[in-house]
Order: sequence, then C-alpha cells, then structure tokens
Amino acid sequence: MSIEDLSQISQAERDARDAIGHQINVCVAASCLSLQSDKVKEELEKAVEAKGKKDCCKVRGVGCMGLCAAGPLVAVEKEKVLYQGVTPEDAPAIVDALGGEPVARIQGDLEAPFFARQQKIVLENCGRIDPERIEEYIAADGYLALIDTLTAMTPIGVVQQVTRSGLRGRGGAGYPTGLKWATVNKSQGTRKFVICNGDEGDPGAFMDRAVLESDPHRILEGMALAGYAVGASQGFVYVRAEYPLAIKRLKLAIKQAEKMGLLGASIGGTTFGFNVDIRLGAGAFVCGEETALISSVEGGRGTPRPRPPYPAESGLWGYPTLINNVETLANIPTILRNGPEWFARIGTAKSRGTKVFALAGAITNTGLIEVPMGMPLREIIFDIGGGVPDGKAFKAVQTGGPSGGCIPESGLDMPCDYESLAKLGSIMGSGGMIVMDETSSMVDVAKFFMEFCMDESCGKCVPCRVGTAQMHELLRQISAGEATARELALLEHLCDVVKSTSLCGLGQSAPNPVLSTLHYFRDEYESKIAAGEAAAAGHAPPAGGAA
Ligand SMILES: Cc1cc2nc3c(=O)[nH]c(=O)nc-3n(C[C@H](O)[C@H](O)[C@H](O)COP(=O)(O)O)c2cc1C
Ligand code: SF4
Ligand code: FES
Repeated sequence: MSIEDLSQISQAERDARDAIGHQINVCVAASCLSLQSDKVKEELEKAVEAKGKKDCCKVRGVGCMGLCAAGPLVAVEKEKVLYQGVTPEDAPAIVDALGGEPVARIQGDLEAPFFARQQKIVLENCGRIDPERIEEYIAADGYLALIDTLTAMTPIGVVQQVTRSGLRGRGGAGYPTGLKWATVNKSQGTRKFVICNGDEGDPGAFMDRAVLESDPHRILEGMALAGYAVGASQGFVYVRAEYPLAIKRLKLAIKQAEKMGLLGASIGGTTFGFNVDIRLGAGAFVCGEETALISSVEGGRGTPRPRPPYPAESGLWGYPTLINNVETLANIPTILRNGPEWFARIGTAKSRGTKVFALAGAITNTGLIEVPMGMPLREIIFDIGGGVPDGKAFKAVQTGGPSGGCIPESGLDMPCDYESLAKLGSIMGSGGMIVMDETSSMVDVAKFFMEFCMDESCGKCVPCRVGTAQMHELLRQISAGEATARELALLEHLCDVVKSTSLCGLGQSAPNPVLSTLHYFRDEYESKIAAGEAAAAGHAPPAGGAA
C-alpha cells in the first residue's frame, strides 16, 4: 500500500459519497445500540427503499456522536440536521423530511454548546465514519501518517516528533509519551512489544470503549507508528472483556488492515512489519496497572510487581515493552499528520492537546466530550454538560475515578489540566467526570470509592489489602452515625499509611477520595461524628446528624 493507493481509495470513497444526495448516519455505538439504534437503522433502510429513495439516500452506521444521554442519535450529514431520542417509528418521517423541513419534535441542536465548544482530535472520526469499513477511515486521511512516516522518517525522528508535541499519557499518570518512547527505543532487546491499554475499569468511564468501538483503525495506526518508533514488531491490545462490540470491531479492523497490507509484513513496501493481537482483560480493575497487565498477558495472575524495572526496560516476557493508553495512541496519527507544533499549540503550557471526558452522574448531557486542556471545569460542566438537572444545586465533581478526588464549587474556575487538578487535591486520571448534586452525601461518596478499592485490591500487599477494608469499615461507621472522633482520627491515620506504603497505584491512591472529601466537606464528616458521639453518650443526635 503506497500513498497513491491510499489516495485512490480515498478519492473513490469521496466520489461515492458526493454522488449520494442524502447521507443518514445512525449511531451504532454501545449506548445507542442499547436503545435499539440498530432497529432505527433497519427501519430507516426500509423507509428509504419503500419511498423509492434508494438512489439518492444512504443509511449507514457510525460511532458515538457524544451526546449519549439523548440517544439514539441520527444525523443527516449534508443538511447538518441532528435527531435525538429517535425510535424505529420515526424512520418514515425522517426520510420524508429529507431536503425539506426537519422533523421538529425530535430535532436536536448541532449549534448547542455541547457540540460547538468541543475540539476534536481523538474523537474526530467518531460519529462521522462507519467503524466497520477501513475505506472510510482511509478517506478521513487514515493510515496516511503511517505510510508517510515509514517512508520518510527514521524511528528516532518519530520519537522526537512525539516528544516535541508535548503529549502526555492519557491513562492516568500523565507521563510524557515522548520520554517513554525514547526509553523503549534505546532499550536493548532481541524483541520489543507495544501494548495498548484498553482495560478501562474506572466506574463511570467509557472514553476508551467509545474510541475502540467508533474508530478502531486509529488505534491500530497509532500502535504501528509506536512499533516503528521503538523497534517493536508485535503489538497487543489489552481490552476489557466486558466490551464485546469494541472487541468485535477491533478484530474486524485488524483483518481489514492485514488484507490491505497496512498490518503484517513489509508495510508500505518497507522492511517494517507489525502485527496486532487482542488479549481480553481478566475482569479486575488492577489488571489495568501496567505490570499486572503484563503478567495477565503472559498468562499469569494479574497482580502488580515492584518497579523498577519499568516495562520500558523489562516488560512482556522480560523484553522492553511500550505500554500506552488507548487515547494516548489515538492522538499519534494526527500528531504525525499535522506536526508536533500544531498539537503543542492546543491546551496549556504543561498539558498539551485535548482531553476526552466521560460526563456522568448528576449532569444533563451525560456522554462523551473532547475539549482543549485547560478549559475551566465550570465551562465543561455547565456549558457543555448542561449543568445539574431538575433544578438541583451542584455540589462536587469527582475526577480521576477511584484514584481521584472530589472538587467543590470553589474549584470550578480552575483550568482543567494535570497541574491544576493536582493542586485541587484530585487528578486528571483517565477522564471520568462524575457530577454530584446537593443530595449526595460526601461521606457516602468516599465510602463508595473505598468499597470499590477494597473489592478490587488484589491482596498482594498488606497495607492495601487490610487498609482498604479497615478504611471502608470506618467510613461505614461514620456514615451510619456510629463513629466518634477517635474513628475519624484513625481514618486519617490509615489514609496516610496506606498511601505511603502500598505497592501499586491502586493502594497508593485509594485514600484520595477520602482525603479530598475530608478537605472540602469536613463538616459532613463532623456532623456524622457528632451524631455518633451523642449516641455513644446516650443523647439524641443533634439536628443535621446521621439519620
Ligand atoms: C489500579 C490501576 C489501574 C489502571 N488502569 C488503567 C487502565 O485501565 N487503562 C490505562 O491506560 N491505564 C491504566 N492504569 C495506568 C497504567 O498503569 C499505565 O500507566 C498506562 O497504561 C500508561 O499509558 P499512558 O502513558 O499512555 O498513560 C492503571 C493504573 C493503576 C494503578
Ligand atoms: S496496592 Fe493493592 S492492588 Fe496494588 S499490589 Fe498491593 S494489594 Fe494489590
Ligand atoms: S453511543 Fe450514540 S451518541 Fe454515544
């Protein structure tokens, strides 16, 4: 496959699309599919046929359009019309309205801030291409960066481009991607591997799932570019087993890319070859931790091991291994296509580019968004997210999943980047954003995340195995109004011990939700404690205490 071959496929696709008068896109990603979007697509196809519009209208399935809360979504491409909450029964009306007045009762607003305020790199093809057709990815400039790079750039040149872009790992820690690639590039090994981490176990997170389901070739291209840069010829996508649609589309994408010579031996007629295989996640949150993941791919139990050595030096079967998150790799083709300076101009000085967030909880527009790094949280939650529904007041936003923290109203004007979120006592994490309204008890929020960590602790080290269970029990007692100041002091002490003595990130960060809720919402803990102390002294609890 050469650049000329790619542009021929691309041109043929564009010609075919131009020849069609109306293009109806139906979201067939997981959330809309669960609302019968496949039925909607079927009925639209039938209506097109029945109304004799087959020659001028095409219905196709596309990936997630982002506004999952309003699904199933249907978009009429050229007219720029969006329909939301579409049922199979709406199909004839949608087809009748083509070229005329849209069906007002189901029409959405593409000019709304939800769409207008986003900037898409990782999600640029989501909701716009059919994820099951490689030709559509190619028509969106897909695989151009790969073929161009293989023929025009040295591996170290690719590493330098990624370094100059300022891209940082989107899997949680924000480690500079270029630096990691440079380490693997320099590591000595008779073999090297690339692993795409698609385990995504945080409650409320579905960023990686959406990318894998909606634009799987982008990940394959990113991985092949990474393989070329670090000297690896084999890649693995470690994908959560509970994502059957993502797995199906990835498998199909691998087959298609191999068939076109975009994966496999001698890619683009060069000496570089790269294969990708899928490994299914073992169903534990900790398997997303890189050393546990490696052990799981090797066929062992998914438990972390001490670092160093880091996987970049000694990873899969002892060979140098590059592990990157789905979103990190999804940025790579666009960075190489548009250049590192272009990417570095987006975002803030230390957090370049965009970030995908999954909005969940007490927020009107639950769904998937991508914004430039540094956008204030208030803008994300209230303008793009549409604020808190049912007239309730905002209380806090939890970022970073079980390793993150809860940010109150006073922190909402901070820019959303790695440094600012850390200053607020939280982390960027992989992009889960759970909004809580005035009815949420912050002690119960901390208890929920601690329960998650307790259940997911692999048990290898004592501080995490025993500490998370103890902290959970203390939180239960506080929440139930059975605790006194002694239990609260013990909880704070345990937070400190577990954070500083656990082996891996799960234990080290498990106290974060407790610490941040204690910092910002201590009064809620104290009123529960007052209730507990009153009960212990045989008095009735004061007003506002635990029920
Ligand atoms: C308990 C735990 C779970 C993790 N789960 C994931 C995950 O699901 N996906 C992911 O990309 N990184 C996860 N990480 C981070 C990985 O260990 C690793 O840092 C990351 O995959 C590196 O990719 P990046 O540099 O592109 O961010 C997890 C870390 C910990 C401690
Ligand atoms: S910190 Fe927890 S999850 Fe990590 S190794 Fe120790 S017991 Fe396992
Ligand atoms: S799954 Fe359809 S809009 Fe997200």
